[in-house]
Amino acid sequence: MRYGAETQITRSVIRGGGILRITDLIAKKRRGERLTADEIGFWIDGLETFADYQNSAMLMAIAINSMTESEVTDLTLAMVRSGRALDLSRYGECTVDKHSTGGVGDGTSFIVMPVMAAEGRVAAKLSGRGLGHTGGTLDKLESVDGVRTDLSEKEFFSILDKTGIAIAGQTAELCPADKYLYALRDVTATVDSTALIASSVMSKKLAAGARNIVLDVKTGKGAFMKTQKEAEKLASFMVRIGRRAGRNTSALITTMDEPLENRVGNALEIEGALEVLRGEKRGDVYEVSRSLCKALGVEPERFDRAISSGAAYEKFESMIYAQGGRAGCLDRLPRSRYTAVVTAERGGYLVRTDAMTVAETVLDAGGGRRRKGDPILPEVGVVLLAESGDRVEKGQPLARLHYSREGDGELAVRLAQAFDISDERPKPRSRVVGEIV
Ligand code: URA
Repeated sequence: MRYGAETQITRSVIRGGGILRITDLIAKKRRGERLTADEIGFWIDGLETFADYQNSAMLMAIAINSMTESEVTDLTLAMVRSGRALDLSRYGECTVDKHSTGGVGDGTSFIVMPVMAAEGRVAAKLSGRGLGHTGGTLDKLESVDGVRTDLSEKEFFSILDKTGIAIAGQTAELCPADKYLYALRDVTATVDSTALIASSVMSKKLAAGARNIVLDVKTGKGAFMKTQKEAEKLASFMVRIGRRAGRNTSALITTMDEPLENRVGNALEIEGALEVLRGEKRGDVYEVSRSLCKALGVEPERFDRAISSGAAYEKFESMIYAQGGRAGCLDRLPRSRYTAVVTAERGGYLVRTDAMTVAETVLDAGGGRRRKGDPILPEVGVVLLAESGDRVEKGQPLARLHYSREGDGELAVRLAQAFDISDERPKPRSRVVGEIV
């Protein structure tokens, strides 16, 4: 399918006894009215025949007026039907998938999926690219030399048979409607909508076919859902859609006020995940990954063993090579041309590192997209050199900006605004603040 290629902007179809026109449906949603399953199906089935501006207008109308739960369910199912849904039944009940609603410095997929595979599950994940200010699993994976995520159904199954773990992107076969809408939302300020996030996430999860799904719903300054209440609403929406479709679905609510790990950026986050998988680093990303695996049925002690034995690392490595990674690719991840260090303006305790400021810095350094299809610079990003609760001295390095375009060093000035230093030591807080299991 080539969505948005040739447009037939006055397309109308006789359905359910009446004529449907896309402009009428946009107007209906713009007025805040409820769309029927037939109308939603007409829009999604015809996405490629409508113009980008019409599809964007519909997205904006949904983002502003939202949708009822039954509309979101109809939208999700129509998106699944835009491609083929994978049938993983040959692997029995042990198939697992995991999805986050968008984080900063969040490489948990590269830890959770290998641990689950090391524990004998079949880890089959359909992911997305960077969205808004958040990073995307596909962009991160593709920062590894040779790795492909545009897997055909046949390739996906053959990798799962061989390694028990595969992470692919939406393609012309798998969730093409999400592939197209996702890219459009990324550049039309229509990302942070409960209806659009729920349908995007759940269409991928239902199409990828796993029996067991865990959702990591982020809340806070660096998340699309700014409040815990919004995150809980999104989580219960998605869990209900998954369960109604017969999938064993659970969700954690986790905070995203600060980056989850100390590296933010595509290749840098792969490097961070490798450190965790090698047992060299713990911290919040370890704890959240452990909780996500627990929700999928792997107890914390087994999680620790999968890491300490090197079994999870081996699974990750075998997936990287099965998906096209060139020899030695994990030892030579892309490196930025330049670095700039941000130092503490005063002494005290580091109270907070603002996830949004860090994310926007990485985006502006070329780590994300401002326009649909923009190329990204996989090597750029930020490495945090101190974490919340640390005592820091004036002049102490707090972060290193990795950049590759001359002039982007100035972004370090903005990055410096991310750090909040106070005389009072902050209380340690758990990242996991809620769950639906
Ligand atoms: N992840 C997705 O797949 N879709 C969204 O809309 C947000 C996060």
